[in-house]
Amino acid sequence: MKDRFGRQIDYLRISVIDHCNLRCVYCMPLRGLSFIPSPELLTAAEIERVAEAAVAVGFRKFRLTGGEPTLRPDIVEIVARIAALEGVEDVAMTTNAVLLPRLAQPLAAAGLGRINIHVDTFNPERLKKIMRFGTLEEIERGIAAAEEAGLRPIKINCVVTRDYNDGDVVDVARRALERDWHTRFIELMPLGGGEAAHLSLSQFVPSRETRERIEAALGPLVPVPSANPADESRNYRFEGGPGIVGFISPVSEPYCGTCNRMRLTADGRFHLCLLNDDELDVKKVLRSGGGRAEVAAVLARAVGLKPTGHRLEEGISTEERSMFQIGG
Ligand code: 5AD
Ligand code: SF4
Repeated sequence: MKDRFGRQIDYLRISVIDHCNLRCVYCMPLRGLSFIPSPELLTAAEIERVAEAAVAVGFRKFRLTGGEPTLRPDIVEIVARIAALEGVEDVAMTTNAVLLPRLAQPLAAAGLGRINIHVDTFNPERLKKIMRFGTLEEIERGIAAAEEAGLRPIKINCVVTRDYNDGDVVDVARRALERDWHTRFIELMPLGGGEAAHLSLSQFVPSRETRERIEAALGPLVPVPSANPADESRNYRFEGGPGIVGFISPVSEPYCGTCNRMRLTADGRFHLCLLNDDELDVKKVLRSGGGRAEVAAVLARAVGLKPTGHRLEEGISTEERSMFQIGG
């Protein structure tokens, strides 16, 4: 399915829940949070119906996000339902890994192919300061469980935040020198207009600075041409290192031109672009008896309305929704 800017949209990111068991400083405030009431969350069967309609109009890749997707008690069932659909090529997940010791194996068995794990630092004190509710030990156990379950290569998402973990990027990147991990450094995006968005603006670190820091300590990074033009990560490797170092730079190097995504929120709306508030309600259609054709029609409309370009550099993005309500 092509949008009006000629972009092939074939990747659906599905947020299954807006809760999280961590409270990263740039994502969720400690107080004043309200979450989607359970009856408003799409059920596993409803998510499957949306995925089925998406496959019918040419979507091939799916990613489950949150909040923290593993907090859904039926997450294994959701993965199994999507993976079983004919035409699905890829089912992936973004997670903070805390619950993976219990879930990595069943998720892999249900058809999960790949996993991105969010870890901002491997320093236990600073991890506590930035991710707040978690411990490094829990996260490391989760990573080990993912590796053991065959969810390889391990991809680490590291959101670079000044004064919190910008000094730890070398230590994170070193993992791509020592093993086959992909370590990806993400520029902060100010979403949602609240406290977390303000912090995202004031603690912003451009990818170029992160890269210079890594190269100064560990040696030159060699560009790796991307096999997938829609990959938002600019990838490099160290000479002689088995892993990948990637930079995701939505603010300093926007990649709207190759965006291939549509997003589904946990309460059943297609969110047209991560960085603005436009949405189309699909839950209403699902709950008034709409079948595959009706759901596909809403999705086609969403693709047709998908915008391009953002105003992140001016600090402008969403007001209605925060990152934990869209899923990145
Ligand atoms: N800016 C950039 N990335 C963010 N994430 C969460 N909040 C932000 C933010 N403000 C990342 C997390 C997670 C992914 C879904 O989005 O690292 O891996
Ligand atoms: Fe949870 Fe991810 Fe937000 Fe951190 S960034 S609070 S792990 S949803």
